Amino acid sequence: MPASRRGSSSVTLPTGQTLALHTRTSEAEDLPHATKKKMADHLRKYEALFTLTPQRMRMIVEAFKESLELGLSKPGQVVPMIPTYVFGWPTGKEQGNYLAIDLGGTNLRVCLVTLQGEGKFEITQSKYRLTEEQKQEDGQQLFDFCAECLKAFIDSNIEGGDIEKGAILPLGFTFSYPCNQNRIDHGELIRWTKGFGAPNTEGHDVVTMFRKSLDKFKVSAEIVALTCDTTGTLIASHYVNPKTKIACIFGTGCNAAYMEHVGDIPKMAQLGIDADAEMAINCEWGAFDSFEHENLPRTKYDQIIDETSNKPGEQAFEKLISGRYLGEILRLIICELIDEGMLFLGQNTYKLEIPYSFDTAFLSLMESDPTDELLMIIGIFTHFFAVETTLAERQFFRALAKLVGRRAARLSACGIAAIVSKMGYLEEGCAVGADGSLYNKYPGFAERIHEGLQDVFGEKGRNIITYHAEDGSGIGAAIIAAMTKDRKLANRYPNL
Ligand code: BGC
Repeated sequence: MPASRRGSSSVTLPTGQTLALHTRTSEAEDLPHATKKKMADHLRKYEALFTLTPQRMRMIVEAFKESLELGLSKPGQVVPMIPTYVFGWPTGKEQGNYLAIDLGGTNLRVCLVTLQGEGKFEITQSKYRLTEEQKQEDGQQLFDFCAECLKAFIDSNIEGGDIEKGAILPLGFTFSYPCNQNRIDHGELIRWTKGFGAPNTEGHDVVTMFRKSLDKFKVSAEIVALTCDTTGTLIASHYVNPKTKIACIFGTGCNAAYMEHVGDIPKMAQLGIDADAEMAINCEWGAFDSFEHENLPRTKYDQIIDETSNKPGEQAFEKLISGRYLGEILRLIICELIDEGMLFLGQNTYKLEIPYSFDTAFLSLMESDPTDELLMIIGIFTHFFAVETTLAERQFFRALAKLVGRRAARLSACGIAAIVSKMGYLEEGCAVGADGSLYNKYPGFAERIHEGLQDVFGEKGRNIITYHAEDGSGIGAAIIAAMTKDRKLANRYPNL
């Protein structure tokens, strides 16, 4: 074993363990640190790798548009463009009590939503954190957990008087993973995303699975609609802001939904639905450029993330953009510089070497650090990774975070631009309801999307405005459940 690629020495103990030896003082400035010149050279290299020119963006938009069209024309395409069986926009008059359950990338959320009409509502909710183990355990077990949480939630609301004892409430099920649907209360999971891997679920109808769990735990709820966070966001945002035409999620995963004319969905032609009817499309755009990797500018860090993920080749667009991966991209760059002997010489960097240890929230903090000394960045590196940094290194890390965050936002702008251009929304303009931790918490993410839209469309890009959307997985799922009940009562495509 080499003495240490970190510049420290190490000894092998009789037990076989390796003990790293580091000589360090408490004064960061006394440690060997990267020179400013070296950092400037590296920064230029990363700038070249992570910067997207307007011309490159326009090329991506064109390819993106083609993928969207292809997904609408034939089943089983890379970007699946899933017809959701959500017919048109809500009227705003939807009323009643609905349950919503949202199996997200990070949390399980259960909600009781009272729709009051006129775009108004009330919501009561509980959140349960999902463990990494739960994401990998058998699918039916995962749905059992959802059913148990829902039961506990209903029971506590019966006690509190908000749910009538014995009532069987309609349930909107938000399941934000790509599913092929052939009616609104059905969805075969195409593939897990966002690090989930629960066996015995892909290729199965998740509604049937969840119904089985609801029966097992005798939960008084009837699944009326299966939806995903993005479709829910589209509908909930339009409920409160009718100018909304597109919805996006930029969170642990990323995706978009919009309203399409049924006549422009060739793969649905055989269903005989009125060509003038409208239907929400769940694009599942995180899959853009998967497998072939022909259009997106992937760096070697992106390739490592992909190859070491549980789903190599898949979700190519999402892996460059979403919150699950941005921290990891930065961590891989830092590790490369440690390996090259440029950073943290003489310090023990094992904590930084743990995959996914660098949370995307750290990037947000690094970019928003208001202090001259970049104290927040000192805190992140000392507290979470036990390494000391100089001011120049902290400035360098912040610049790197900016590059990674900016690329994500500009690529997001390309996706939005592809839908805008396909649907011809540029001239009249449109509002884009957006949600997710990245959009809501990452400083400047929305501004960078807007800047990107102007780089693609010129001045007219200003006509497309993103805004913080209404809660799609809770309110949106409830409105969709209400719309579905009303549609079926009116005998409009009752079997879909
Ligand atoms: C999923 C989508 C979801 C998005 C945002 C993606 O990984 O495939 O269904 O809408 O994440 O949560």
